[in-house]
Amino acid sequence: MSFEIIGTGRGLPEQIIENQRMAEFLDTSDEWIVSRTGIRSRRVCRTETATDLAVTAAEQAMKKAGVLPAELDLILCSTIGGDYVTPSLACCVAGRIGATCPSMDLNAGCVGFLYSLSMAAAHFDSGRAEKILVIGLERMSSWVDWNHRSICVLFGDGAGAAVLGKGDSLRYLHLGTEGDPTPLNRPISIGNNPFTDRPPVPEVLHMDGRRVFKFATRVLEAEITRAFKQTGFSSEDIDLFLIHQANGRIVDYVREKLGQPEEKFPKNVMRYGNTSSASIPILLDELLEEGAVKPGQTLFLSAFGAGLTYGSAILNWK
Ligand code: UT7
Repeated sequence: MSFEIIGTGRGLPEQIIENQRMAEFLDTSDEWIVSRTGIRSRRVCRTETATDLAVTAAEQAMKKAGVLPAELDLILCSTIGGDYVTPSLACCVAGRIGATCPSMDLNAGCVGFLYSLSMAAAHFDSGRAEKILVIGLERMSSWVDWNHRSICVLFGDGAGAAVLGKGDSLRYLHLGTEGDPTPLNRPISIGNNPFTDRPPVPEVLHMDGRRVFKFATRVLEAEITRAFKQTGFSSEDIDLFLIHQANGRIVDYVREKLGQPEEKFPKNVMRYGNTSSASIPILLDELLEEGAVKPGQTLFLSAFGAGLTYGSAILNWK
C-alpha cells in the first residue's frame, strides 16, 4: 500500500546571514566557504522558535494537500532538538495546529526525514493510517559553537514538511547505521548533579569534517549502487537526485561518479547551508514550487548524517 506525498511546505527564518557577516567575527572568508562548501548564506532564527518553523512548514503542506488537522493519523518530526527535550516537537506542532493524533519525534541525524518516511510507510502498510504529517526541523544555530569556524559556517535553520496519503509512490527504501558518535555528535549535559564524577561537557556540535566527508561519499556511492541493483533502475531512469544538502562538493562528487548533468542534482545549499534533516524536504518543496518536479518523474532521495546514519528512497511522483 505505502504512500504518496500529497502536499509539501517549508518554514525558514527571515534573517539571512551571508558569508561576509561570518568573516566579521571569525577567521574565515567568503572565498573559503564558497570554494569548500558552495554555501553563500544561511538562515538563522532571530525571533522564530523551532515550533514556529515547523508549524509554518506543516500548515503550508496541509493547505496544499487539502488535509485538515482532524484527518491526521500521525505526526512525525525528525529533529536533533526542538524547543524542548520533552515534550516532543511533534506534540508542540500538534497543539499549535489543533491535531490530537499520536505525535512523536525521531532522531536519525540528517537522515531523519528518510527514517520518518520509513516509519510512515509501515503505518500505511499495516492499515493504521490514511494521512500522516512528516516534518524535518533543525535549529542548528542553537547547537553550533559560533567560535568554531570549521563548523558554524556550515549549518543553517529551517523546516520542511510533507503530508502523506495512501498510495504507491514508494518504489524503494533502504536505511542503515554505522553506530559511532565520535565523528559527529552533540552531547547532553550532566546538569548540576552533585553526585557524579563525570566532568561537565559543552553542549555544542562536534564534527570531524574530513571523516564525515569520506563517510558521506562512500555511503552515497554504495547506496546508489545497491538501489540500482535491487530495482533494476539506472541513472538514466532517475529524473532528479535529491541529495542531502551538506556540502555542494559532496553532491558534485556523486553526480560526477554517475556521469550525470548538473540539472539532475539540484542544490539549495548555497542559500541555506546544511539544515540537517530539513534539507531534503525544503529542497523538494522548492522544486515543486518551481515546477521542476512533474507527475510521472522518478526521484532518488539520499542522505547521510550523525549516527552515523544513511539511507535512500526512490519515489515515483504522482
Ligand atoms: O550533515 C552531515 C554533516 N557534515 C558534513 O557533511 C561535513 C562533511 N565535511 C565537509 O564538508 C568538509 O570536510 C568541510 C567543509 C567541513 C571542511 O572542508 P575540508 O576541505 O575538508 O577542509 P579541512 O577541514 O581539511 O580544513 C582545511 C583548512 C584547515 O587549515 P590548515 O590545517 O590546512 O591550516 C582548517 O583549519 O581550512 C581551515 N578551515 C577554515 N579556513 C577558513 C576550516 N574551516 C575554515 C573556515 N574558514 N571556515
